[in-house]
Amino acid sequence: MTTDIELTKNSIIRIVGPARIDVVEGRILIVGAVYGKGSSIVVHSVRSYGMKVLESTKLRITLGSNARIEYPSSGEEVIDEWLKIAEDVTRSRKRPIIAIVTGPVESGKTTLTAFITNYMIQKGMKVALIEGDIGQEDLALPATIAMAMPKKTFVWQRELVAEFFKFIGYTSPQYCYGLVIKALGDLLAKALSMGVEAVLINTDGWVNSPQALEYKLNLIRWLRPTHAIVLDSCLAEVFESAAPKHVAVIKAPRPAKVRARSREERRKLRSEAYMSYFKGARERTLRIDEVKVIGSCVLSGKRIEAQELLNNLPLSTDFLKNVVYASLYGGLLNLVVKGPVKDDDTSFSKRELNIVREDDFRGYLVAILNSELEDVALGIIKNVNFKEGIIKILTPWSGEISALIMGRIKLTNNYEDFVRVGRCVI
Ligand SMILES: Nc1ncnc2c1ncn2[C@@H]1O[C@H](COP(=O)(O)OP(=O)(O)OP(=O)(O)O)[C@@H](O)[C@H]1O
Ligand SMILES: [Mg+2]
Repeated sequence: MTTDIELTKNSIIRIVGPARIDVVEGRILIVGAVYGKGSSIVVHSVRSYGMKVLESTKLRITLGSNARIEYPSSGEEVIDEWLKIAEDVTRSRKRPIIAIVTGPVESGKTTLTAFITNYMIQKGMKVALIEGDIGQEDLALPATIAMAMPKKTFVWQRELVAEFFKFIGYTSPQYCYGLVIKALGDLLAKALSMGVEAVLINTDGWVNSPQALEYKLNLIRWLRPTHAIVLDSCLAEVFESAAPKHVAVIKAPRPAKVRARSREERRKLRSEAYMSYFKGARERTLRIDEVKVIGSCVLSGKRIEAQELLNNLPLSTDFLKNVVYASLYGGLLNLVVKGPVKDDDTSFSKRELNIVREDDFRGYLVAILNSELEDVALGIIKNVNFKEGIIKILTPWSGEISALIMGRIKLTNNYEDFVRVGRCVI
């Protein structure tokens, strides 16, 4: 359905996607950027945005299913307040500007990060945007964090191309926030080394526990931002109370009515992102005795001849016949078996033994490092054949592979992800 609407200067509307907005006359501000006559903006189906009319404007809006135009009542939209924040941060005399955006789930973190980035781009600044939410696919794949240096304004980070990324291997920060902080620090250093005037860092929405707050405050400690922009008043109080004085804590209001995403929609968005990343991928075969692996108990361990150790273990001969690989990883003995594992084969000493099936490797998401130990691509383990000594991975990467990093994320054939937590990956 296409509707033409005329709006007066300073009016604010909300568009719930999927929708396309064509500016026929006038000028509007959306996600911190100004669009004039002849421009078009696309609002994705799971997104909504507030839009401000900067001068008498005519819009042609095409609405997809369930999309709508809303006329917010006063106080519902926050565009003026966000604009003021963008202006204040941009005007700051501190250079380079390093601004961290934090807040609860669905509070507008991703959009406010985009808003300020766009505002700065239109002021002619060289800006980097770092996506630090490992649970989402906004800029790079889930389980990674990424950095982009957008030259043009955008609506959603999905439109950007990540220039650098770091694989974390989890989609929830509670298991790995030290790693996230380190990786964010690396990307920040990279951005600064490229001479940017400002870096905007988006974060995840995990803020509701002491551990989460410790993580968020550690971001301040290790990233040393000039600004912490907080989309929640309780969280802002914590930052005000704990952050050193030179960090400007800015409280930002959150939009009152947003297009929230259900668990299923979030899952679907992640799986779409994996699917599109691996669309042109091909299978590569690596030799187990050549490729270096970090993060797998079995593959990172020292290979041992199974027989001598097995002679000393009370395992059934039937079970022994199925053992195709053994390795030692610290005090842990890893055994890879072909076929199913029965409980009575293994229950006697689960503490020292890690028994996995050859098939268990299938579907793990891995990162590929080049010889400089930089993350260059992701892959999915398709198959490990211990008898033949090979690992097959699906990846769009065709360059050298110096090492694989195993994460805790496994993908199904439909690219649905699930997390495997526990002592060992495999
Ligand atoms: N000013 C606004 N008016 C209405 N909806 C908005 C506005 N800003 C953002 N939204 C919508 O609110 C939802 C949440 O916004 P956003 O994704 O920016 O929040 P978030 O805090 O990053 O969420 P998450 O915790 O899922 O990462 C999205 O659908 C977004 O399009
Ligand atoms: Mg977000």
